[in-house]
Amino acid sequence: MTERTMKNPYLPIPMVVQKATVETTDRMLRTLELGFLKEEDAKNFRFVPGQFCELSILGKGEAPFGIASSPTENGSLRFTINKAGLVTTALHHIEERSEIGIRGPLGNGYPIELFEGKNLLVIGGGFAFTTLRSLIAYLLHPENRAKVKGITVIYGARMPGLLLYKEELAAWQKRSDLNLVVTVDWGDKDWKGKVGLVPNVLEEVAPSSEDTYAVICGPTIMIKFTFPKLMALRFPYERIFTSLERRMKCGIGKCGRCNIGRFYVCKDGPVFSYAQLEKLPKDY
Ligand SMILES: Cc1cc2nc3c(=O)[nH]c(=O)nc-3n(C[C@H](O)[C@H](O)[C@H](O)COP(=O)(O)OP(=O)(O)OC[C@H]3O[C@@H](n4cnc5c(N)ncnc54)[C@H](O)[C@@H]3O)c2cc1C
Ligand code: FES
Repeated sequence: MTERTMKNPYLPIPMVVQKATVETTDRMLRTLELGFLKEEDAKNFRFVPGQFCELSILGKGEAPFGIASSPTENGSLRFTINKAGLVTTALHHIEERSEIGIRGPLGNGYPIELFEGKNLLVIGGGFAFTTLRSLIAYLLHPENRAKVKGITVIYGARMPGLLLYKEELAAWQKRSDLNLVVTVDWGDKDWKGKVGLVPNVLEEVAPSSEDTYAVICGPTIMIKFTFPKLMALRFPYERIFTSLERRMKCGIGKCGRCNIGRFYVCKDGPVFSYAQLEKLPKDY
């Protein structure tokens, strides 16, 4: 938490839209690169992959978004936004050089200290890949790569045009220290890669669960069918992590909007182990 948010956690940090990029052919996903307007905010903003921020637009409201950039990419923050309703549509229309407010970093983030010295299996689907992108970029940074052993990434989208961060995926494909498997539900005439649903591709790749943590983020249906595959590969519940997406308001454990059982998803999560989720009421 920064000094500013310790004083007043509802006070947004002023940022500027440095760059806006349409990510997908259906134009439903847009990435915003935000720069800090105040040097002290840039210096004080410390986060871990898996955390999120509330982005606010005057007259429209605020909404939570996972941080897609890595802590190793200093000076700016990246968010990828799916056009869903009021705030997200406004974020799709916001122009470069416009000012915007953010509150954060919020939530717990991925337990990177647990991953140290282990293998990591990252499974992503759709636009939930944002915070996984943060995690992967963080671990691939030269200062951090030695922290974990093998990294396998399985990432799927419905169609090739809906894949995020295509240039970066192409660069990652060339790396020898990362096993990246990109898959789509339906290919097109130009698609030379894998075709298949993420849970089936996981079964095919069959990574060893020995000394391995799994992190999985994606649509509920993908997660539902992926968990049994991880069980079949003998991943213990406490070595599987996922990030929950609940309706949120305050983002800091005050309003009671996001709780599941005794947990506030915004404060105690959004990242939980499957061992924790197993003990919760099944309304997530
Ligand atoms: C921790 C966290 C991280 C998130 N990260 C991202 C991200 O990186 N990129 C991204 O695009 N979105 C992300 N979301 C979802 C995003 O917050 C919602 O899409 C957003 O709040 C919708 O706001 P809106 O004003 O545009 O929609 P509204 O006008 O409020 O609603 C439009 C429609 O979206 C539905 N909706 C609204 N919020 C949610 C929600 N949280 N879950 C499911 N359905 C919802 C409503 O029921 C309605 O049908 C995240 C959510 C959470 C909790
Ligand atoms: S969003 Fe208010 S308590 Fe979690």
